[in-house]
Amino acid sequence: MKAAFITQTGSPEVIEYGELPDPVPGPRQVLVRVKACAVNPIDTYVRAGSVKMPLPFPFVVGSDLAGEVVAVGPEVTGLAPGMRVWGSNQGLLGRQGTFAELAAVDDCWLYRTPDEVSDQNAAAAALVSITAHLGLVGNAAIQPGETIFVHGGSGGVGLAVVQIARILGARVIATAGGPEKSELVRRFGADLVVDHHRDDMAALVREAAPDGVHVYWETQREPDFDRAVGLLAEGGRMVIMAGRDARPAFPVGPFYVKGCRLFGFVMFKADPHVQAAAAVDINRWMSTGRLQVAIDRLLPLESTAEAHRLQESSTVGRSGTLAGKLVIEP
Ligand SMILES: NC(=O)c1ccc[n+]([C@@H]2O[C@H](COP(=O)([O-])OP(=O)(O)OC[C@H]3O[C@@H](n4cnc5c(N)ncnc54)[C@H](OP(=O)(O)O)[C@@H]3O)[C@@H](O)[C@H]2O)c1
Repeated sequence: MKAAFITQTGSPEVIEYGELPDPVPGPRQVLVRVKACAVNPIDTYVRAGSVKMPLPFPFVVGSDLAGEVVAVGPEVTGLAPGMRVWGSNQGLLGRQGTFAELAAVDDCWLYRTPDEVSDQNAAAAALVSITAHLGLVGNAAIQPGETIFVHGGSGGVGLAVVQIARILGARVIATAGGPEKSELVRRFGADLVVDHHRDDMAALVREAAPDGVHVYWETQREPDFDRAVGLLAEGGRMVIMAGRDARPAFPVGPFYVKGCRLFGFVMFKADPHVQAAAAVDINRWMSTGRLQVAIDRLLPLESTAEAHRLQESSTVGRSGTLAGKLVIEP
């Protein structure tokens, strides 16, 4: 099969495109013909070696996939050749990735793709929608009528948080960089969008939510806790999920006196059953068009190194060049 893989960690140039042997599914595995896979920032950290993972070289990069079942191991129940599936959590914790024509995936990480949903959309929604679901439902337990502030609402995770928070009945204030991204976030359901370049960003949020926001979702790698705690309502909850090396100052007094709570998580450590439950909701929302994805562009598998460069520059370099997910079609 054709694959995008690495034999050492390093800059995007270490990604090779070429032939690897077809994977053979284990007893609880499903062989998937990959029709679409999507790039996430974690793919670039694993490739760079900045997030240490066991890497079975040659290591196929990538976490998300959507495609069609080709074969199943003898212990797999519920999935059969010909079925359309999507999933995430590959290319992590010693598992091979998805940027290939074929992927052998443990059945616990795969979900049926609704007829109404394209492979491109299913792959693009995978990791980011599960992340948003885990944070909003499992951690912050957002309630109808509450107000959420999404710092980074225009990003992959941010757009999923904006939409799922709306679906769950919350009022959404979100940030974006520039008029086009702001329009995108508005189209995806935010009630108010504030440009993160503005010096008075926090004041605008405060004006829109004078009693504070119930949930503050931080997508940035260097959270500003003074600003966040200042904007939180009494008993507010904050979600953090980025910035492994960040060691920002923390306003202990204001935080506990307000009775706030702080949640942190990485989606790929969540139990497969919890993720599968999230996928049920995600499938329902995607099939009815309530949960959508923004796709910046489609690329062929041989452009994986270029896709990593683009993702890195946009997320880590904060160039903001991407407006939506990068989707690869093997
Ligand atoms: N813990 C987990 O399970 C988990 C899961 C997924 C992702 N993550 C991490 O979460 C982070 C976001 O992921 P993603 O896929 O959403 O990335 P992304 O698509 O690149 O989104 C980045 C967001 O940051 C915004 N941004 C850039 N510069 C900013 C600034 N100076 N001030 C405020 N906002 C700014 C961007 O806005 P504009 O482009 O509009 O400027 C965009 O909304 C990454 O670090 C990723 O590794 C963690």
